[in-house]
Amino acid sequence: MKVLVTGAAGYIGSHAALELLEAGHEVVGFDNLSNSSERAIARIREVAGRAMRFERLDLLDMDGLTRLLAEDFDAVVHFAGLKAVAESVEKPLEYWRNNVSGSANLLAAMKAAGCRRLVFSSSCTVYGEVGKSPIDENHPRSAANPYGNTKLVIEDMCFDLARSEPGWKIVLLRYFNPVGAHESGRIGEDPRGVPNNLMPFIMQTAVGIRDKVRVFGGDYATPDGTGVRDFVHVVDLARAHLAALERIEDFSGAVAVNLGTGRGFSVLELIEAASRASGRRIPFEFAPRRPGDAAAIWADATLAREKLGWSAALDLDRMCADHWRWQRSNPAGYEGDSAAKR
Ligand code: NAD
Ligand code: WQD
Repeated sequence: MKVLVTGAAGYIGSHAALELLEAGHEVVGFDNLSNSSERAIARIREVAGRAMRFERLDLLDMDGLTRLLAEDFDAVVHFAGLKAVAESVEKPLEYWRNNVSGSANLLAAMKAAGCRRLVFSSSCTVYGEVGKSPIDENHPRSAANPYGNTKLVIEDMCFDLARSEPGWKIVLLRYFNPVGAHESGRIGEDPRGVPNNLMPFIMQTAVGIRDKVRVFGGDYATPDGTGVRDFVHVVDLARAHLAALERIEDFSGAVAVNLGTGRGFSVLELIEAASRASGRRIPFEFAPRRPGDAAAIWADATLAREKLGWSAALDLDRMCADHWRWQRSNPAGYEGDSAAKR
């Protein structure tokens, strides 16, 4: 297949682009590099040993999208977007413009070009308020912040579009908590500034960039009192996109599918696993709960097995070992070896 990957330089997009190349697909990637480095693209080509075309392009550039989509793609995998929950609370309009208007542009360009196969990065954030896990795809959707709202609205846009005319095949993949890195240690997560998410913060602490991890809440009604999440290896996630593309002809309309392992681990369990993987002591202290955090959430991943033939294969120790290999060999991320640090 000839596949267009938006957000190809980002964390999940880079891993998916690599899996697609390795499976023999022709990949064209674009990104505006607002949260990533073009060096990721060079590393994808290096690991795959194959060419991949890349353009610096913004989802808000309708003319650019129209020109690119005119190239007759079989499918689009859409990762591009802003993803920081706290930032979205401060800058809601930026999130609505970038994520929602940007996705509307992409869908319009696809429609105009007659490309009707899409795999979209949704999120477990669409489940908003959660009670008991596991959570399946029929769990009521709600959003607790502007970022979550953008995912809800983009999902709705896809459902509406798929209902408006036959032929659309749209897979909305709801990721739980992506962690880990490619086993080569050449591509991985490269957050700008202080990481918002737990795993990069733990790994930056292990490598000595941060003093200690702050564990947000030790008094949840969970086995050890800390939050429980469904951490899923980014390479497993990437392979799920491949599976979705390979089965996309079986789909009709827009369908949402959870991507998780189906198992929850606590914040303290992740710190312990990271400590084992790195052989480093990872200091931590308890801090107040972070507003808006659920106590525990993990996926019911049955539908992914049924619809995509996919289930997560890589366990927590492997997630930590691979993330650590990336962190240790790229302590300052992609730009670490350049004079012009971000
Ligand atoms: P990321 O920030 O590493 O990658 C997103 C990429 O999109 C970045 O390279 C960024 O430069 C690019 N981008 C942003 N706005 C753009 C625009 N207007 N035009 C072109 N490129 C643009 O994030 P990620 O973790 O790889 O996430 C990928 C997708 O998965 C996002 O849509 C995110 O919301 C979703 N998601 C991520 C997580 C997670 O925890 N990482 C969980 C669930 C869903
Ligand atoms: C995990 C656990 C924290 C940082 C987020 C988004 C969600 C989705 C995935 C995009 C929680 C605790 C964290 C720290 C901590 N992204 N924690 N100390 O909040 O489950 O999900 O990423 O769609 O929408 O909200 O992930 O990694 O931030 O937190 O104790 O320094 O780690 O309280 O229990 P979260 P996270």
